[in-house]
Amino acid sequence: MDLGLTNKRVIVTGGSRGIGHAIADSFINDGAAIATCARGKEALAKALNQWHNQGATAFGSSVDVSEPEAFASWFESAVEQLGGLDILVSNVTSMNEFTGLDRWKQAFEADLLQHIRATELALPHLKNGKQPAIVYIASIASIMTANMPTETEYGAMKAALISYANQLANKLGKDNIRVNLVSPGPIYHENGFWQGVEKYKPELFKRAEALSVFNRLGTSQEVANAAVFLASPAASNVTGTNLRVDGGTIKTVNF
Ligand SMILES: NC(=O)c1ccc[n+]([C@@H]2O[C@H](COP(=O)([O-])OP(=O)(O)OC[C@H]3O[C@@H](n4cnc5c(N)ncnc54)[C@H](OP(=O)(O)O)[C@@H]3O)[C@@H](O)[C@H]2O)c1
Repeated sequence: MDLGLTNKRVIVTGGSRGIGHAIADSFINDGAAIATCARGKEALAKALNQWHNQGATAFGSSVDVSEPEAFASWFESAVEQLGGLDILVSNVTSMNEFTGLDRWKQAFEADLLQHIRATELALPHLKNGKQPAIVYIASIASIMTANMPTETEYGAMKAALISYANQLANKLGKDNIRVNLVSPGPIYHENGFWQGVEKYKPELFKRAEALSVFNRLGTSQEVANAAVFLASPAASNVTGTNLRVDGGTIKTVNF
């Protein structure tokens, strides 16, 4: 199937590792140009080198999405380098090292507000884009009531993100901008959260595996496949969808 992504101009936030990296990689393999960011310089430079060696059009520099001015300036320069914007994939999450109410504040910033910030920056450009689309990376933690204790705030913010995205999908139909989400289950990748769980909490890791009907965690590429499809013109009549990529971990009917 031709996804229609050749020469599409795409911003993927947090493309230096894990799911964001796989998403950026997949866009590139389908002929799109990408811009991405992360805070850490080393992993970002490694990813950009890899893409440049493939002959891809890929831009990127280090920025913290939670710093409004720095991120706005990064975003405008990314759009300028791309020559416009057709697709935003808002992917970043950040490790929450706080407790109590500060933990809620941090989760609000990391898993909701920065997505809204990216959206506000993208919209004026997407309105002039070709077959424009937004995809957010949410999580099945949004609908689980038996999350790990560390995921209470994260799950609630991901739920708010899904509500926000669905309202946006309705509002932006008049501008032909599609808005969708992907909700991964536990995803195993190098230097990722679940690699740490495997090492330090093997019982929890086994429990997560067993919740999947395939008895395994998912891969970044499996999430990327869903995200890239939803962002592509091949999904031209799909908007307001939250696609679970969780190996059947959530045991409810997905109407
Ligand atoms: N992995 C899972 O099991 C899983 C499950 C469900 C949902 N998800 C969702 O999938 C998305 C990606 O997850 P992941 O596992 O790939 O995450 P990850 O391994 O933590 O990677 C996050 C990416 O975002 C960057 N980043 C983090 N904070 C940033 C900030 N403040 N400013 C700029 N860049 C920042 C990271 O680079 P730096 O750290 O260098 O900044 C990295 O490139 C997230 O939305 C997550 O909630 C993941």
